[in-house]
Amino acid sequence: MIDKQLPSTRTAELDSICLKAEVIPVMTIDRLEDAVPVARALVDGGLSVLEVALRSDCTLDAVARIREALPGVSIGVGTVLTPAQYRQAEQVGADFVVTPGTTEALYRYGIESAVPMLPGVSSVSEVMTGWQYGYRRFKFFPAEVSGGVAALKAFGAPLAEARFCPTGGISVDNAADYLALDNVMCVGGSWLTPQALIDAEDWNCIRELAEEAAERFHH
Ligand code: 3PG
Repeated sequence: MIDKQLPSTRTAELDSICLKAEVIPVMTIDRLEDAVPVARALVDGGLSVLEVALRSDCTLDAVARIREALPGVSIGVGTVLTPAQYRQAEQVGADFVVTPGTTEALYRYGIESAVPMLPGVSSVSEVMTGWQYGYRRFKFFPAEVSGGVAALKAFGAPLAEARFCPTGGISVDNAADYLALDNVMCVGGSWLTPQALIDAEDWNCIRELAEEAAERFHH
């Protein structure tokens, strides 16, 4: 039974974050000392909304460091799979939480949390489940292999009020096709933070990738 609905203010909060970001870089930080230089390179390149994927032991510490060093940045914690991880993201001061898929437990937790969640979906049915709980904004993941631009365009007819952040297989070459859709608010992707550049501590190159994205895809 669905006894509670997400407050519409959470949707408004997500909108204000996504409005600042056509592109949300998804970063995976394996060495804590890389967190701030990577984030700074992205911000210097013009991207001010970042997602740190919960895929390494130091992710939460990385978020805390970025939060302290770059207070103006909006930071999402991504790859959140459980309410326990959602709570950890809240505790380190995440501005938003991103999940690759959804569970009833996550939808319920998100309703109680003060930190908005962008739940991951790849089908109309998953959106409909979220809809029942009051969710209106979703991550479309994995975008390219789930039907890409054509699928999202088709979602627009029955789900006119839903807005998406497609992620998964997005690059500088196809981002504009997604951003041209009415129901796409921004795109996400790891192409701005290639592991090889992080390993080489090539912050200049990461900044240039961010600059290219910020210039090409600004509102
Ligand atoms: C994510 O979790 O959002 C993805 O890993 C990003 O997808 P990409 O690596 O294909 O950009």
